[in-house]
Amino acid sequence: MLEGKNVNLRVVEKESLPLYSEWINNPEFYGEYNPLEQESRAEIEKNYDSAPPEKRKFFVEKKDGTKIGVVNTFPVGGLLEIGFTLIPSERGKGYGTEAVQIMVDYLFLSRDLVRIQAYTDPRNMTSQRVLKKAGFKKEGVVRKSMFIRGEWRDLLLFSILREEWKEPRVLTKPT
Ligand SMILES: CC(C)(COP(=O)(O)OP(=O)(O)OC[C@H]1O[C@@H](n2cnc3c(N)ncnc32)[C@H](O)[C@@H]1OP(=O)(O)O)[C@@H](O)C(=O)NCCC(=O)NCCS
Repeated sequence: MLEGKNVNLRVVEKESLPLYSEWINNPEFYGEYNPLEQESRAEIEKNYDSAPPEKRKFFVEKKDGTKIGVVNTFPVGGLLEIGFTLIPSERGKGYGTEAVQIMVDYLFLSRDLVRIQAYTDPRNMTSQRVLKKAGFKKEGVVRKSMFIRGEWRDLLLFSILREEWKEPRVLTKPT
């Protein structure tokens, strides 16, 4: 488990896939800026079993163990991308920012990465603020790059380079 100050990140175990499945199949969970996807439990389990180590799902947990969201990593060529979502009732309390900071610390401490990237909708001001607070910089608009809710949408690409990260903000260096 990756421990932060107010939240922890815990790898999603196979036994927890029912909760994960319940969340991702609820359109309110991802909200209006993410693709509308429905995935059966069998598909989720199959993808889970075949996923490479770079493709991981982590639950965001409060300190009492309550699960409140998910942070994902995806390999893109030789790069890593992250995604993050909290359940609606736990948004706006600083948990999303800390979860992203923990993930950035973890990825730079555990992998020889030069950059971590994330896409977000230009209208998603919360997500952009979270990325900026976690040290990401806006690179630009990637035009018509994802089919979301009936239309091809432009997305903003953000990234953080290892030299911009410099040192862990939440996690401590392993001794
Ligand atoms: C995006 C998400 C994970 C962020 O987590 P969170 O816990 O709600 O975010 P935080 O509370 O840590 O930070 C939110 C920041 O956005 C700011 N913010 C919120 N709405 C804003 C707006 N309309 N304009 C500008 N800033 C805004 C808040 O003021 C806060 O910044 P501050 O700490 O400087 O005041 C969460 O809101 C969520 O799950 N949203 C729906 C799914 C989603 O959009 N996922 C991201 C896809 S890229």
